[in-house]
Amino acid sequence: MSPSFQPSGVTTRNEIGLPIAIVGGGLGGLALAVGLLKHGIKIRIYEAATAFSEIGAGVAFGSNATRALGLIDEALLEGYKKHATFNENRDRDDTFMSLRWGTDERREGGKKAGDFVAELKDKWDPEGAKKIGVRTRSCIHRARLLDVLVSLIPEGITSFGKSFEGVEEQPDGSLKLRFADSSTALASAMIGCDGIKSKAREVVCGPGVEASYAGEFAYRAMVPRLVAEESLGAELARNGQIYCGYGAYVVTYPVEHGEFTNMVAIPHEPGETWAWDEEDWTVPASGDDFPRHFEGWYPPLVDVIQQHCLPFKWALFDLKHSAPYYSGRVCLLGDSAHATTPHMGAGAGMAMEDAYILSNLIASVKETAWIENAFRAYDAVRRPRTQKLVENSRNAGLLIDLIMPGIGDDTDAIVERLDSWYHWLWHEDLEVQLEHAKGLL
Ligand SMILES: Cc1cc2nc3c(=O)[nH]c(=O)nc-3n(C[C@H](O)[C@H](O)[C@H](O)COP(=O)(O)OP(=O)(O)OC[C@H]3O[C@@H](n4cnc5c(N)ncnc54)[C@H](O)[C@@H]3O)c2cc1C
Ligand SMILES: *[C@@H]1O[C@H](CO)[C@@H](O)[C@H](O)[C@H]1NC(C)=O
Repeated sequence: MSPSFQPSGVTTRNEIGLPIAIVGGGLGGLALAVGLLKHGIKIRIYEAATAFSEIGAGVAFGSNATRALGLIDEALLEGYKKHATFNENRDRDDTFMSLRWGTDERREGGKKAGDFVAELKDKWDPEGAKKIGVRTRSCIHRARLLDVLVSLIPEGITSFGKSFEGVEEQPDGSLKLRFADSSTALASAMIGCDGIKSKAREVVCGPGVEASYAGEFAYRAMVPRLVAEESLGAELARNGQIYCGYGAYVVTYPVEHGEFTNMVAIPHEPGETWAWDEEDWTVPASGDDFPRHFEGWYPPLVDVIQQHCLPFKWALFDLKHSAPYYSGRVCLLGDSAHATTPHMGAGAGMAMEDAYILSNLIASVKETAWIENAFRAYDAVRRPRTQKLVENSRNAGLLIDLIMPGIGDDTDAIVERLDSWYHWLWHEDLEVQLEHAKGLL
């Protein structure tokens, strides 16, 4: 356990030349690295694993989060576009997801499992996405995005096998990072991009700020195109869908240019408080675990997931808190600061937005002596937005699970709420946000 980081107020003198340390080389850390390198800022990346790697399937971006990629570095957006997958039907260009019933509506003469509810779409600026060469719904395989990021980072600035443990400020104002292998490294400042189980967070926020279990877990299946089409038909298989049920939902969307349909089924535990008792957040699931939660659901959907379901369940955690995202010269970015549930498909997008804002703020303070000002301005614009996402995302889960108090299965009210949250999420002007933050320096 490292004590909470105490800024001494000492400004730089002889730390000149020390790099900024980026702790964690996931999607957020690498995007930040690309942004800082673009400005010619000296950095060093410390990654716990022995190589860069990404597991899992698709990561989706709303169109302004995609724009953030291009604002960080044009080459990053170009690389993204090469591998991005969209809804296949052209009349679904503006649609993020189609909302459907996953079960029968609990009402005489109500809708049936599989029935269409509404398009969750960009009603406001559908051309915006096309202008940068994507669509309202775009997603990429995490490993492909990682490859694009890695290709933009020179060799020799990353140290692998470095699991961060703590940091001390030296008398001259520089930072000394400690790793699990007992090695140390000096830096002028540090940005913790070490994910939801962040060690850097303890340094910045103290020991109390920890991820909490959202009362939900995910089953996952990656279904080959032909199988998905045979079960569900091409339209459902190759365009993003959210199937709502009472206390659960299923999301399906094409990845890898339509070669696979990624399917994620997320039941919500009943009650209002939940505890996750296992040490691991991903635990084995037995064969009848998944179908037990989805009894009575749309049969073609449940059957195809059942056939391809991985034998695990992933507990969902998020990080709602009010502590600043920096302390002294240590700052947090991405999931380490604001991990969210995946219900709005925006966690990684927020890390890209963070990276754009923070890299530009650091570039504009020029001297690392003033980097704390950059961190303060970053915290001022990013904390409200990212914490709002954590909250909206939890609530979006309740809405599509048809269990939001006062709304239940009123689909008109559900769509109205979701629309307003997506508008808020997608239509943020990041350049204006940056100008605002610069005004705080
Ligand atoms: C089921 C699920 C679905 C999701 N779907 C979407 C989606 O559709 N759209 C979207 O935008 N987001 C989605 N997300 C969220 C997205 O995956 C994260 O927001 C994103 O990966 C965060 O990136 P990060 O760099 O902050 O953290 P991570 O990607 O977790 O990277 C952290 C890195 O730090 C390293 N590390 C950890 N500890 C240490 C240490 N002590 N020292 C050094 N290095 C360390 C790790 O090895 C890793 O490389 C989803 C998440 C989940 C769980
Ligand atoms: C991106 O944000 C800007 C500024 O709010 C907005 O005008 C534009 O419509 C957004 N673009 C898209 C495609 O969402």
